[in-house]
Amino acid sequence: MRAVTVRRFGGPEVLGVEDVPEPTPSTGQLVVRVMLAGVAFGDVIVRSGGYPRPLPLTPGLEVAGEVAAVGPGTDQSLLGKTVVATTVGQAGGYAEQALVMADYTFPVPDRLELATALAVFQAGAVARGLLSAMQLRSDDVVLITAAAGRIGSLLVQSAKAAGATVIGAASRDKLTAVTEFGADHVVDYGDAGWPDEVRRLTGGRGIDLALDAVGGQTTEGAVAAASDGGGRIGIYGYASGKWPVLEARTVASRGLTVSGALGMVIRKSDARQRDDAIEALSAAACGELRPRIHARFPLARAADAHRELEGRRSVGAIVLSIT
Ligand SMILES: NC(=O)c1ccc[n+]([C@@H]2O[C@H](COP(=O)([O-])OP(=O)(O)OC[C@H]3O[C@@H](n4cnc5c(N)ncnc54)[C@H](OP(=O)(O)O)[C@@H]3O)[C@@H](O)[C@H]2O)c1
Repeated sequence: MRAVTVRRFGGPEVLGVEDVPEPTPSTGQLVVRVMLAGVAFGDVIVRSGGYPRPLPLTPGLEVAGEVAAVGPGTDQSLLGKTVVATTVGQAGGYAEQALVMADYTFPVPDRLELATALAVFQAGAVARGLLSAMQLRSDDVVLITAAAGRIGSLLVQSAKAAGATVIGAASRDKLTAVTEFGADHVVDYGDAGWPDEVRRLTGGRGIDLALDAVGGQTTEGAVAAASDGGGRIGIYGYASGKWPVLEARTVASRGLTVSGALGMVIRKSDARQRDDAIEALSAAACGELRPRIHARFPLARAADAHRELEGRRSVGAIVLSIT
């Protein structure tokens, strides 16, 4: 079968298509004949060596397609079903067939388009996990950075659905989309004075909650815009490639809570994580969550898909079409 194979860490050009053996499922695993594979920012970090993994590797943490084989002692009723699923080891999705975890495989609800299901089941679950970990309240003013992104756009919609006031921060060209996702206010964080603008939008008080996965100066700006005596900042990634520099003294004297919502804080029991994915799929099926598909690229153009994401040109999710 064909699969995108990374033989050395580097830029998008290291994503080449090769013929590789078809996978065989062990207990608790399935093989999915992949129709669509999600392209997440985590794949970019893995490809560039940011989370070193053994090579060669095939990126891809989420797929949509048909269950072609079921491992021994594993639920046979899934055979032939159209599903979305998380790949084993969060890799291997950019391929004609992928090994996935049976426990993180979800039949696609009726009437839900395959690409929509793919774009919502993991990203929507992360958004739900973040908002509950950071104890979102309906009277919060929430700042969401990368608010037009795959996860950010669902955070905007989920926070709005919970009754919060949302300020979406993104690149200038994406601000119209952030408004369409439901943000009450938008700011261009390319402007140097953007934290002051956020503070002005809150009548000078500052935001109650910030959710940030950009890192560097953007997180530092979110901290500057947080309300003294209670502002909460949840950091769940660093798409800029830089961690913010935060002074414990500033955090303490201003009474802020900075939470590394990256992984550990949002980690829930397996059953709760599955529930979040199921709820995200149901919310999409009834139109409450509307992920946007930015572009579809064929498998052979995985490098162009990564260029689009890293070049900050995407609004919503990017997918690879395998068949
Ligand atoms: N903690 C967890 O469990 C978890 C799980 C999944 C993902 N994540 C993290 O969540 C973040 C979002 O992932 P995603 O797949 O939804 O990606 P995404 O938001 O669709 O894409 C990343 C966005 O980051 C912004 N950005 C800011 N500075 C950037 C730079 N220097 N280079 C590239 N992009 C930059 C861009 O939006 P603008 O152009 O608007 O700035 C870009 O569109 C990533 O950091 C990812 O690692 C965390």
